[in-house]
Amino acid sequence: MAGTGPEVTREAVKVLEVASQKFGFKLNFTNYDIGGDRYLRTGEILPDSVLAELRQFPVILLGAIGHPDVKPGILEKGILLRARFELEQYINLRPVKLYDERFCPLKDKKPEHIDFVVVRENNEGLYTGAGGFVFKGTPHEVALQESVNTRRGVERCLRYAFEYTRKRNKDKKLTLSGKTNVLTYAFDLWERAFHEVGAKDFPDIKRDYAHVDATTMWFVKNPEWFDVIVTDNMFGDIITDLGAMIQGGMGIAAGGNINPQGTSMFEPIGGSAPKYTNQGVINPLAAICAGQMLLDFVGETQAAKAIETTVIRTVREQIKSLAAGKMGYTTSQVGDLIAGAL
Ligand code: IPM
Ligand code: MN
Repeated sequence: MAGTGPEVTREAVKVLEVASQKFGFKLNFTNYDIGGDRYLRTGEILPDSVLAELRQFPVILLGAIGHPDVKPGILEKGILLRARFELEQYINLRPVKLYDERFCPLKDKKPEHIDFVVVRENNEGLYTGAGGFVFKGTPHEVALQESVNTRRGVERCLRYAFEYTRKRNKDKKLTLSGKTNVLTYAFDLWERAFHEVGAKDFPDIKRDYAHVDATTMWFVKNPEWFDVIVTDNMFGDIITDLGAMIQGGMGIAAGGNINPQGTSMFEPIGGSAPKYTNQGVINPLAAICAGQMLLDFVGETQAAKAIETTVIRTVREQIKSLAAGKMGYTTSQVGDLIAGAL
């Protein structure tokens, strides 16, 4: 790694270690040096041998991808997207939860208004790399980028979202966010599958639909309307950056890349903010929250709850701002605060 990945991961591991002692379970860490530094040193991005080993683990905690000296795109595609695809992490789970109203840029919105989860499809859509050029470099150049939506891929994502909504047990409402008015093939499939699966197997879950553009409007105007949102890969990418901002920014937003039958991977959802590398100013809370999601996922729910409660309290009572360099503490001090309070 490098960029701020190693700095935030160190703090997440610190908190996980304390949680494991306190709640009496054992964590066996295996560290992999994957990222910008290694790439610059050896030319390797994510070697096949490492990928094969990663399949043996139940979960991965990923730092943040990006390095000041590596051209954007190489590490993102070569590590993050490759892991998501090859490990078939077909769900990207991104909770949007405001921990303190001071961190919300929206007027009059409080923690009770911002508490929803985005289930983003993570293996299909515009991210498969399907497409190509014709007449490249000529005035007649054509660039095609195809959105791939399979019944199997869409349905397994929808089923996960319905199950998740049921288990979350908040409003029992699942909103499909799409663009049925323009993407008349892709979202026709999504919409049909949504209602078929919902009517047949999840009659207890309310089904709701919003166009993706309207979804961004509601995020700002009435975020309290949402419980769980399900959407495709590209739309999910876009709306979760907005989601991150209304919950306090990239410093706190975490997510999970989930393969319910395989190896899942938890990460801060933002990039590695390379310009802050090795200054001790980056906010490790997103990585710490990724660790919290990881524990919840592996069934250490009490420990996960305790980390969340501690983060909420610390954020409310001590942290000045969630932005890099403005927290009132260094990166490792924030980790110490959480670990200590836990
Ligand atoms: C994210 C990121 C990635 C994505 C990039 C880095 C490829 O923006 O995890 O949201 O587009 O999925
Ligand atoms: Mn993104």
